[in-house]
Amino acid sequence: MGHLAMSEQKFSVEMAKDAHGLDKVVLNEPRGASAQVHLFGGQVTSWKNERKEELLFMSSKAIFKPPKAIRGGIPICFPQFGSCGSLEQHGFARNRVWSIDNNPPPLPGSSVENRAVLDLILKPTEEDLKIWPHSFEFRLRVTLAPGGDLTLISRIRNTDTKPFTFTFAYHTYFSVSDISEVRVEGVETLDYLDNLHDKQRFTEQGDAITFESEVDKIYLSTPTKIAILDHEKKRTYVLRKDGLPDAVVWNPWERKAKSMTDFGDDEYKHMLCVEAAAVEKPITLKPGEEWKGRQELSTVPSSYCSGQLDPSRVLQG
Ligand code: BG6
Repeated sequence: MGHLAMSEQKFSVEMAKDAHGLDKVVLNEPRGASAQVHLFGGQVTSWKNERKEELLFMSSKAIFKPPKAIRGGIPICFPQFGSCGSLEQHGFARNRVWSIDNNPPPLPGSSVENRAVLDLILKPTEEDLKIWPHSFEFRLRVTLAPGGDLTLISRIRNTDTKPFTFTFAYHTYFSVSDISEVRVEGVETLDYLDNLHDKQRFTEQGDAITFESEVDKIYLSTPTKIAILDHEKKRTYVLRKDGLPDAVVWNPWERKAKSMTDFGDDEYKHMLCVEAAAVEKPITLKPGEEWKGRQELSTVPSSYCSGQLDPSRVLQG
């Protein structure tokens, strides 16, 4: 085969097996960026840049079977974010096996040209209908674009005869060099619900968000753009979202990390979850209606200027 010249390299989407024998799909971009999606959970489990550096955190202790999501990548929380009532924490979509959707309905505004595109679908089983009695079709499109930007678009359609209501999150685990060197911009001065204080509502004070202890906050009605600045790595992640008003920021820190069986004791230093979500105002779909939620991830070098994310400017842009 030899080494393909740049011009001959193409976008590709290939089926593969992981080390546990699970089905996964690998998306490649001509300049070397890639993404990997497990059918278990419909979960993105790797996203690499052109230099083959992993951008998503994956725990060395991740367990690749139910009842929890694989600990890392981008688990999907549906039909519930968090825990409430009899439904399991963060819903069941993250530990079901999804199918490849070979014939997805058109998705206006999402190009399949000059991109690696994967379409997945999840429908409830008889067992699922016993725990959440609502018929739905959940279509997930994962797109790797030139330069390596990763976009996830979820379309959830009510195929039932009565309305249903859900909450949702893309539970993205970003890989960071050292959590104490990380700053999040775009949620300062916003209201949040604090999961560590009985979901009480507070207002974030002061400047950009930094980390020195456990954090588990649901920021409400955030700008569409949030940045995660990793000073040590000289890398900034930019998260853009649409249809997902809220953003959850989570790091378990030392004590909680030790209590999690699928998470290394020190791994909290190397991850941060920033989750595009719809939590405060649950979404209700009437029969036949469809909801769409989009998340786009990209990286920029650390020359990225602080202040560019002034919420009023972001909202105008
Ligand atoms: C976060 C929640 O999104 O997910 C936290 O805000 C929770 O409260 C965390 O601990 C991990 O949840 P799980 O179910 O994947 O262990």
